[in-house]
Amino acid sequence: MTREKVEATLGASVQIRNLKLIYGDFTAVDDVSLDIAPGEFLTMLGPSGSGKTTTMMAIAGFAQGYSGSIAIGGRRVDELPPHRRNIGVVFQHLALFPHMTVADNIAFPLVMRGVSKGEIAGRVRQALDLVQLKQLGDRLPAQLSGGQQQRVAIARALVFSPPLLLLDEPLGALDRKLRDTLQLELKELHRKLGITIVLVTHDQVEAILLSDRVAVMNDGRIAQIATPTDLYFSPVNRFVADFVGESVCFPATVRTVDGDRCGVEALGGQRFQARHLHGPRPGETVEIMLRPEHVRLDEQRGMENAIEGTVIDSIFLGDHSRVRVAVSSADTISAVVDNRGTSRGSGERVRVGWAAADALVLPPN
Ligand SMILES: Nc1ncnc2c1ncn2[C@@H]1O[C@H](COP(=O)(O)OP(=O)(O)OP(=O)(O)O)[C@@H](O)[C@H]1O
Ligand SMILES: [Mg+2]
Repeated sequence: MTREKVEATLGASVQIRNLKLIYGDFTAVDDVSLDIAPGEFLTMLGPSGSGKTTTMMAIAGFAQGYSGSIAIGGRRVDELPPHRRNIGVVFQHLALFPHMTVADNIAFPLVMRGVSKGEIAGRVRQALDLVQLKQLGDRLPAQLSGGQQQRVAIARALVFSPPLLLLDEPLGALDRKLRDTLQLELKELHRKLGITIVLVTHDQVEAILLSDRVAVMNDGRIAQIATPTDLYFSPVNRFVADFVGESVCFPATVRTVDGDRCGVEALGGQRFQARHLHGPRPGETVEIMLRPEHVRLDEQRGMENAIEGTVIDSIFLGDHSRVRVAVSSADTISAVVDNRGTSRGSGERVRVGWAAADALVLPPN
């Protein structure tokens, strides 16, 4: 067996079946079922209040009174208290013990598990090393930067070698640069340890960068679970399309269906070709979704679809510009264009085009 294979078996699988959690008359998690593979990096992505933390709390054992079931490593854990589920957890509002040194904070889970003093010292050293804080064991949390505190929290969650690590917005409070750094460290940590990681974030870039798969949450349900690529190129509905990346959507009526292509009528009676996944029927009202980077201006080749429009404005964004074009009285299409070509002034007439494969038919919103 290769080293990669051996390491991958260190992660625990997670099976969630029909998880439901109700607070009073509010359903926070609504029938969530989810299979996480051993060693997988799974991210839960979704807007505030969509049930991400509640799902994590149920897995960790801190949520009371859910229905459905949760198994970790093939074993039902519903009756087990948090400390017997063998899960490392970094909470959304991470709480280091302020009166304890960094080393004592990290040692805490080991002390609770009755590990011997000698062994604790060695494991704390390893954990500090893992998160690159070797020199800082004697400091108090208040003497650390935000990013260093996050790393201590991660070290504390990893120190007892759990096969499953739950991270709830661990980088949420950090500035962009530090986030970027810690994201890469987290990815490296995952690769090195081979454990299963479930991360919660509402940052789509973070989700796409880190994850094997992403579960997009909305109103207590999973809207879609897929690889970052599938999520981006084949979102199942408007919510996912809008939440992951930028999208341009406009209504259309299906006229013909042929294999995975359909002919649609949109934007003031014009005919277009598009790709579909959900099997629409002729006559059905749908939405057409485009990514702005797939929209071309004034190009002749490879554009099965094209329409005339008037430039509303062009926003300079460094390496590219975003050009908004009015293509009908009600519809605007945005295009991302690189800045080596000619710039577009408002009022200018342009031809807006895109390939049929880049236009996705989504069910009506
Ligand atoms: N103890 C509670 N009592 C009542 N309602 C609750 C409780 N905890 C959470 N909720 C509600 O359940 C819903 C889901 O909350 P949850 O914390 O899981 O959201 P989230 O997706 O983690 O959001 P955020 O991104 O803001 O952290 C929210 O509407 C929240 O107000
Ligand atoms: Mg939350």
